[in-house]
Amino acid sequence: MSEVAPVVDAEYMAEIERARRDLRALIASKNCAPIMLRLAWHDAGTYDAKTKTGGPNGSIRFPQEHSHSANSGIKIAIDLLEPIKQKHPKITYADLYQLAGVVAVEVTGGPSIDFVPGRKDSSVCPEEGRLPDAKQGASHLRDVFYRMGLSDKDIVVLSGGHTLGRARPERSGFDGAWTKDPLKFDNSYFVELLKGDSDGLLKLPTDKALVEDHEFRRYVEIYAKDEEAFFRDYAESHKKLSELGFTPPRSAFSCKYRNKQKSLLVQAATGVAVAAAVVAWAYICESNKKIG
Ligand code: HEM
Repeated sequence: MSEVAPVVDAEYMAEIERARRDLRALIASKNCAPIMLRLAWHDAGTYDAKTKTGGPNGSIRFPQEHSHSANSGIKIAIDLLEPIKQKHPKITYADLYQLAGVVAVEVTGGPSIDFVPGRKDSSVCPEEGRLPDAKQGASHLRDVFYRMGLSDKDIVVLSGGHTLGRARPERSGFDGAWTKDPLKFDNSYFVELLKGDSDGLLKLPTDKALVEDHEFRRYVEIYAKDEEAFFRDYAESHKKLSELGFTPPRSAFSCKYRNKQKSLLVQAATGVAVAAAVVAWAYICESNKKIG
């Protein structure tokens, strides 16, 4: 059963800003940016565009979903966020998890990502097997990301999220970090990827697929050379991922803003009309004087 969408009014927006501050403090004190980004991605990455199921709807908070093998370790992030949810109960889990992902990227030096709130929570968990399997290759990556409605460019640029964090044998069976500074969000994932196995850093089979596949490699080369291009495209694709299946509500807040704009327009139009009347009146008086 799906729950209802939150009312995104000025108070909800203010609560989002307060939660954003708490998230910055939590991530700084626990150094947990990587697992926060992984949580946001794993909640969103189950989306199926055909059936419009899964996606960033907070369903990963239920054991039925976070116990999927691809989510091994993710409960740590869910538990770290629970006190923030309790402090800001108005905010949906779906919004909170996506906001945590956005803050994780920003506080580690990555691009600012536009965040639009209003996601509904759902208690319907998708079946296991929708997230990508790191042991597979390019065609599997395409199957999974195309199912979400995402593109080759999205696949490559979002994989750049592995600039943060590391794999652990007890969680995924893989071991090590992709970059030399796993708490800094930069384009080094792509730089290291082009070096091949020589640098001793982690490369999953799905990471290697990005340099072996001709279409994917084009983007890897661009992002390795040009961090600005990576940041620009990453911010765009991350927003897309965080909004899969979500139509931002026409919020009471923006209605209020629109009404204010309307009343300013009316005031301006009234001003112009009064000025025109005064000019006309002065003209008539002047003409009458001349006639007299
Ligand atoms: C392209 C397909 C992907 C595969 C197959 C994949 C697979 C994995 C695996 C196996 C791990 C190690 C987990 C562990 O042992 O704890 C991991 C970690 C991670 N992934 Fe991915 N991933 C993919 C895409 C993404 C995307 C799109 C993002 C974000 C935009 C992302 C962000 C992360 C982060 C930040 C970590 C580190 C977590 C930590 O340090 O605790 N991944 N991923």
